[in-house]
Amino acid sequence: MRPDNESAIPSTVPDTVHTAETPSRRAETGPLTELRSPGISDGVRMWEIARDSRVLDLNSSYAYVLWCRDFAATSIVAEVDGRVGGFATAFVRPRVPDTLFLWQIAVDEQLRGQRLAAAMLNELLDRVADRGITRLETTISPDNPASQALFTGVARHRGVPITRQPLFTAEDFPPGHEPEELYTVGAPRA
Ligand SMILES: CC(C)(COP(=O)(O)OP(=O)(O)OC[C@H]1O[C@@H](n2cnc3c(N)ncnc32)[C@H](O)[C@@H]1OP(=O)(O)O)[C@@H](O)C(=O)NCCC(=O)NCCS
Repeated sequence: MRPDNESAIPSTVPDTVHTAETPSRRAETGPLTELRSPGISDGVRMWEIARDSRVLDLNSSYAYVLWCRDFAATSIVAEVDGRVGGFATAFVRPRVPDTLFLWQIAVDEQLRGQRLAAAMLNELLDRVADRGITRLETTISPDNPASQALFTGVARHRGVPITRQPLFTAEDFPPGHEPEELYTVGAPRA
């Protein structure tokens, strides 16, 4: 989607203006891993990692690029040896401002098992804590034990409970989609 008046946009406006909201940080997973907010130029790489996961619902490349523009402060990428090797996209639930909803998380297959995903989630939760966000929600399909282990581990690491309840049934999706269960890391809402 291109704005009709694109030529009216000053060329001096940097395209990363929305993304430099938090400084990057070295992850404890290894000296060459950097955790930072995504910029628009990371969108394509995030789309590639989602595509190559063969597990995630692949959204349009536009969705990832747009996400990097508007939800950078609640998302994170892990850069390993100068290349993005994992990402997590999330947003603050509009009507539940103390809850971060994790939309997607994925790590390049070759980098899995090195605690990159756990590092991204913990870093993201640390970053948003000063906004009063105390709870993480996500949905996981019953056939994704890696994801279940990831979120259980994050809850254990942070010393908070994790709960599970039904959310979306298979009938909420087109044929062939698994149901999705809601996992809540943190005290469940009253
Ligand atoms: C799920 C995924 C992001 C995990 O990434 P990762 O960097 O390898 O995970 P980590 O190394 O940080 O591991 C975190 C925890 O999950 C566990 N885990 C990771 N992969 C696992 C697997 N395949 N089976 C069982 N447990 C697994 C680890 O043992 C660790 O547990 P611990 O905290 O109890 O020690 C990665 O496998 C992936 O990208 N999968 C495809 C996309 C996907 O399924 N995304 C989640 C959808 S909700």
